[in-house]
Amino acid sequence: MPESLKGQVGIISGGLGDIGRAVALEFARRGADVAIGDVLDEKDARPTLRRIKTLRRNCRYDRVDVRDADAVYRWVRDVEADLGLPTLIVPNAAVVHLTNVRELTPEVWRDELSVNLDGAFYLAQAATQRLLKKKKPGRVVFIGSWAGHAVHKHIPTYCVSKAGLRMLCQCLAAELAPHGICVNELAPGYVDAGLSGRFFKADPELKRQSRARVPNQQLIDPDEVARQVAYLCEPEARHYVGATLVMDGGLSLFGSGGWKE
Ligand SMILES: NC(=O)c1ccc[n+]([C@@H]2O[C@H](COP(=O)([O-])OP(=O)(O)OC[C@H]3O[C@@H](n4cnc5c(N)ncnc54)[C@H](O)[C@@H]3O)[C@@H](O)[C@H]2O)c1
Repeated sequence: MPESLKGQVGIISGGLGDIGRAVALEFARRGADVAIGDVLDEKDARPTLRRIKTLRRNCRYDRVDVRDADAVYRWVRDVEADLGLPTLIVPNAAVVHLTNVRELTPEVWRDELSVNLDGAFYLAQAATQRLLKKKKPGRVVFIGSWAGHAVHKHIPTYCVSKAGLRMLCQCLAAELAPHGICVNELAPGYVDAGLSGRFFKADPELKRQSRARVPNQQLIDPDEVARQVAYLCEPEARHYVGATLVMDGGLSLFGSGGWKE
């Protein structure tokens, strides 16, 4: 698929995380220029920017907290002024806290929803408003989770945030499809990196149990997620509108899962 996204500009929140970085590199491999936002320090972005430049693509890093709507709107305008109008929009930033509903504090509830759901809304709205203004087509791929489709014990706010994201995806998709903007969701299962990868590293037995719970007995690699995100941005994916691609090895088929009984 050489250069199939050439002439496009990707914008990815949480783009220094394991999945976000893989998406940025996959976009660059397919010919797109890439804007990465994250809360991490500029120096943490350097290796990724170097790899993108090696692929002969333009790129930039901005320190952006997606909980701050104004900062997200400024980021989108800055990217447009520098790299061009963002056409491949990936709200990806997320956090997760281990708790149960009984012990969940209002602070954790609010913080997790504000990153995972509010932040995704701000980026999707800011970037698609610019597409509408310029009358340009584009793609939005929300990074959801199987845990938005089935109960995952001990991460209740995460489940709620990802379930909300799914409906946001559908509402936005219905509004924007007539304008040539396709909005979809990719919902991975257990990825052996990023949020769950950190739990797995700290507790190898949890990793073994988690893999055993997946019907196809496999954990997912971030590059596999990135290729599916890029696929949803390809011209041939134009009939996906408000769809969710659940890539979870069958995990959500059983309706419920969880860590640490
Ligand atoms: N790892 C998994 O098993 C898994 C499974 C399904 C879905 N996902 C989803 O994939 C996406 C990426 O997660 P990941 O696993 O790569 O985790 P990760 O922790 O590696 O990446 C998340 C990134 O978001 C950034 N971030 C956190 N708060 C932010 C904020 N307020 N503003 C901007 N950036 C912020 C972090 O600094 C980090 O770089 C998330 O939406 C997550 O829910 C992950």
